[in-house]
Amino acid sequence: DHVYDMIVVSNRLPVDYQEGPGGETHWKSSPGGLVTALEPVMRAADGAWIGWTGVADRDFDPFEHDGISIIPVPLSADELEEYYEGFSNDTLWPLYHDVIAPPSFHREWWEAYVRVNRRFAEAAARAASDGAVVWVQDYQLQLVPRMLRETRPDLVIGFFNHIPFPAYGIYSQLPWRRQVVDGLLGADVIGFQRAADAGNFSRAVRRLFGYKTHGTIIDTPAGNGETRRVVARHFPISIDAAGFEAIARRPDVQARAREIRESLGNPETIMLGVDRLDYTKGIRHRLKAFNELLRDGRLKVEDVTLVQVASPSRERVETYRQLRDEIELAVGRLNGDFSTLGHQAVAYLHHGYPREEMVALYLAADVMLVTALRDGMNLVAKEYVACRFDADGVLLLSEFTGASDELRQAVLVNPHDIEGLKDAIVESVQMPKRERSRRMRALRRRVRENDVAKWSATFLETLTGAGIIAPGVS
Ligand code: G6P
Repeated sequence: DHVYDMIVVSNRLPVDYQEGPGGETHWKSSPGGLVTALEPVMRAADGAWIGWTGVADRDFDPFEHDGISIIPVPLSADELEEYYEGFSNDTLWPLYHDVIAPPSFHREWWEAYVRVNRRFAEAAARAASDGAVVWVQDYQLQLVPRMLRETRPDLVIGFFNHIPFPAYGIYSQLPWRRQVVDGLLGADVIGFQRAADAGNFSRAVRRLFGYKTHGTIIDTPAGNGETRRVVARHFPISIDAAGFEAIARRPDVQARAREIRESLGNPETIMLGVDRLDYTKGIRHRLKAFNELLRDGRLKVEDVTLVQVASPSRERVETYRQLRDEIELAVGRLNGDFSTLGHQAVAYLHHGYPREEMVALYLAADVMLVTALRDGMNLVAKEYVACRFDADGVLLLSEFTGASDELRQAVLVNPHDIEGLKDAIVESVQMPKRERSRRMRALRRRVRENDVAKWSATFLETLTGAGIIAPGVS
């Protein structure tokens, strides 16, 4: 069996299994933040990617896709329900996003989480060469670092948490809080999006285990009286900024942006929201603010259209179904109350789109609304900025996103404060051109300098020791 010097482990693979109407099948690169972030690294490193294919009850052999070796991990329909929909997305996801929705705690779900994490760890242990670098991704796989270390102490193990890590007062609700923190401490480097997340994690380590921490260093017992140092710090993730800009500069994409504006009736202002349909994204708050602005006459439907792309997500989880109903009710009411035959208040699109179409939307949008109630990073904010090579457009950004730590020249908002959000929307719509481009230039500098290549290089350098780059990564 082939073994690899560099392995990424994530719940979802960077490819989606597609079945055509005639039963023909193929693999398609899937979009998604995580994939966007790691694909360039993997291609450069000639590594292997271990993950789930997105289909239940099917076993697939390893294969190559776009120069990346893919090692699929199977999940049964029951495991999908208990490990993915249950523990990952109905326990950890709401808990780690500050209990915006109430988390459910079920012992069977936990048992499935342990079982599936072990399967991922075993797959990684089989595929890793002696001393290989294994980089485990996100909240679905927090037990993998410890499980790997127990069987393969030779490995260099990294973990990156793409979502927030909550304050101890919230985290401590988790009945398995000790097992999860211990699972993570199996890694050499534990990465978070924000300094605050790393701080929350270190506090949990002190409270639960009493280990000593010095800044980003945690001293853990390694048996026989020795200590093993674990680094826990922030590495804000980013995007392939140059790649997005290159698409935005394409004449066909710019023509498509003009076409989008025209099809909306050439309104003075197009506002855009792009989110997975998730309760963390603050879509309802955004709709409420827009509704009141139209009601109060501060915005007019002849002048302003909101395009809301809400891509389908986790639709078998009840909280997500409810959210979809609520949002579609709110959109329907808003349009019923304010749209005219010639002007639509909200263009609501419950679809995912290819990257080119997203970039055309970003170019068409005068104001980008990111109103998340809690978000690890929010790459949409960075994508919008990367696409605006014309140094125009306004980014309205929630303070509760990781991105707001870096993107200080955005119009920053507290989405819970509906009056403040309304004022910020009006300010964004009316912002003079000079001010728009002053802010956008500063934002663009930031996003260009801190792109995803820098993110992964910084993480891997920290993981493999200062100055030493992981195998094959330059
Ligand atoms: C977030 C998570 C990822 C996840 C993605 C899509 O970005 O951090 O781990 O893959 O959402 O969610 P899904 O449940 O469809 O994988």
